[in-house]
Amino acid sequence: MEQQKLMSLLSDMSLDEKTGELFQIPSYFFNNDMVTGPAVEMGITPEELRVCGSCLSVIGARKLRDIQKAHIQRHPHHIPMLFMADIINGYRTVFPIPLAQSCTFDPALAEKCASIAASEAAAAGLHVTFSPMADLVRDARWGRVMESAGEDPYLSGLMAAAMVRGYQGEDNDLSKKGALAACLKHFAGYGAPEGGRDYNTVELSERTLTEDYLPAYQKAIDAGCALVMTSFNTLNRIPSTANRHLMREILRDKMLFDGVLISDWCAVSELIPHGIAADEKEAAALALNAGVDIDMASPVYLKNLKGMVKQKLIDERLIDEAVLRILTLKNRLGLFENPYKDGSEEDENKLLLCTAHRQQARDCAEKSFVLLKNEDGFLPLNREKESVAFIGPFADNLLLSGSWSFFGDDKDCVTLKEGVTRSYPEAAAFFAQGCPTVNPGTEVLGFQKVPPKEDFDLQDALDTAIQLARKADRVILALGEHRDYSGEGASRTHITLPSCQLELFHKICEVNPNVGVILFNGRPLDICEIAQRAKAILEAWLPGVEGGNALARVLYGDASPSGRLSMSFPRCVGQVPIYYNHMSTGRPFSGDYRTTRYNSKYLDAPNEPLYPFGYGLTYTDFAYSKLCLDSDVLHPDDGICASVEVTNTGTRPGTETVQLYLHDVSASVTRPVRELKGFCKVSLKPGESRRVSFRITEEMLRFYDIHMNYVSEPGQFEVFIGPDSASGSKGVFTLVQSDT
Ligand code: NOJ
Repeated sequence: MEQQKLMSLLSDMSLDEKTGELFQIPSYFFNNDMVTGPAVEMGITPEELRVCGSCLSVIGARKLRDIQKAHIQRHPHHIPMLFMADIINGYRTVFPIPLAQSCTFDPALAEKCASIAASEAAAAGLHVTFSPMADLVRDARWGRVMESAGEDPYLSGLMAAAMVRGYQGEDNDLSKKGALAACLKHFAGYGAPEGGRDYNTVELSERTLTEDYLPAYQKAIDAGCALVMTSFNTLNRIPSTANRHLMREILRDKMLFDGVLISDWCAVSELIPHGIAADEKEAAALALNAGVDIDMASPVYLKNLKGMVKQKLIDERLIDEAVLRILTLKNRLGLFENPYKDGSEEDENKLLLCTAHRQQARDCAEKSFVLLKNEDGFLPLNREKESVAFIGPFADNLLLSGSWSFFGDDKDCVTLKEGVTRSYPEAAAFFAQGCPTVNPGTEVLGFQKVPPKEDFDLQDALDTAIQLARKADRVILALGEHRDYSGEGASRTHITLPSCQLELFHKICEVNPNVGVILFNGRPLDICEIAQRAKAILEAWLPGVEGGNALARVLYGDASPSGRLSMSFPRCVGQVPIYYNHMSTGRPFSGDYRTTRYNSKYLDAPNEPLYPFGYGLTYTDFAYSKLCLDSDVLHPDDGICASVEVTNTGTRPGTETVQLYLHDVSASVTRPVRELKGFCKVSLKPGESRRVSFRITEEMLRFYDIHMNYVSEPGQFEVFIGPDSASGSKGVFTLVQSDT
């Protein structure tokens, strides 16, 4: 539809219709096309439902088509609804959780996964996904780190932009088959709740927000992201959903976002408990003034805006502005011509969980595993020579999908046992559960109670596991966090494994010291106890439907692990928040406790994490040598080339993620000790060497100076090229003033 027609549609709409556009109803309000249960309780009338603009989380093309068809017929202007849902790491084909995907350091891979997710979701009739989440994270207590791309702004930005491209297609033509409009979230700073407690206050300086947190959102906006979601938290004591400065001056004017802004779930009504609105009227006015177009899952806009316009408490032009943005999105999706878009049962049958999608899920899972320890080449296992006991609550567990996989089916998941026995039927592999996932009798709070199964005899399970471990050459312990322990509303003050699993670990180590551990979890954990005793640790995250197959191939060496941590693993929760790109302090710790007490350190733990950002091993070794800068002076209009020679010194082929970090030695404000500025994956055969080069430009040296101008400052810079954020060869160069 041409813009002119949209404008005339808008001017023809009644106020009822317009406020209806701003209302988003959850799908459980629809029973066929009737208003039922909660809608009635919320006081939503059939007339109001008739003009509702969008709907959240409908499952299946057929149901969606029925709802849409009835809706268009009823609507005075036959305006179709938008159907939105949380497609976070896949629709029916569930991929590894986003945190795991970021450990691939492979944005193109994440783009492919997003594109598959979009094709499946679009076939199911959906139009918008509430993804990507570009919230920077530094605190593993926060359960939603599993939805993030970790602690680095550069990597987070690359992943967020790649996901937008995957969902929306390279040319951002949302009407194309298989395209889904992406909704970037949660604007802004949701990943920094105090104490790691979800929905809690966020305290970020303007500088930290601007320099560390906003860039990843910016990358997604630059990639053309069609929607943005407000965050639940406050910034500068103002809830985002009512923050006019944040939404209008920063998001729209500075970051140039011109799409639809949607609140998070009930965030408009939550302005009342936040204590900045006395009632719903005030909440509605604050959010609308801030520029929030859609009120997700609450009738606050719907019930209040009309009256307020009539009483002249709100300018109707604000409503028009919001409606126009929503109509524009519907138009971009082609809904006025085809309100069902790609929704088709036939395509659902063809696409959902098809072989090619499963293949991609396996590939992504393989590349997301991070090998944290591998003493004496414990892994890969040798299936010809060794018997292996696979023990633990994840040895045969279907819950591999992460807590945001509403459209997946746990039964689709390939467990570790299934993966091993199907891929390697000849291998001497034995399985036992050993203990439950959570401590017996513990509730997974806020979810369902997960007591041990009725016929689960704890002592018996332990005894069986011990017997198996005694007889086997090697043991693989499959341990981790119940998947509902991470995700929304899943913050934890302790980030260790449940004591029943640690007890199992120690008991098994006593009878067979040849123990390797696979971890299934949604956040970095405190695994010091495991790291001291296990011979190998493979971080598998929540790997999705193909988890078991991917693990089997990696464990038996048909694929090599190549993932790198996108978030540091602390030694203990007391170190949190911990991130590699922290600021320099005036009293850095030298590493020698005898020199002086008065420097920045803990008395009871090192400053460094157990495993740093960027870290990960594989089945071969790499050596770095001959770091070389082609000049030690960088002229702003030019650039310099930094390169290093990387050699595979081991006996197997392998892939190395070579990382470039920079450090501004002296600037007008304190700078991070290191910042990731580039990386490159190289695959080398045993004995093979390659020179890996990075171009360093003046642009990479820019930051917000003392006056908050985004500039570079002449002076000395350090370059590190290496395998992770805590090591690497170092070079130095000087940025000189521009000649012009
Ligand atoms: C609340 C979550 O914060 C958000 O990420 C999600 O998209 C919405 N609920 C919709 O389910």
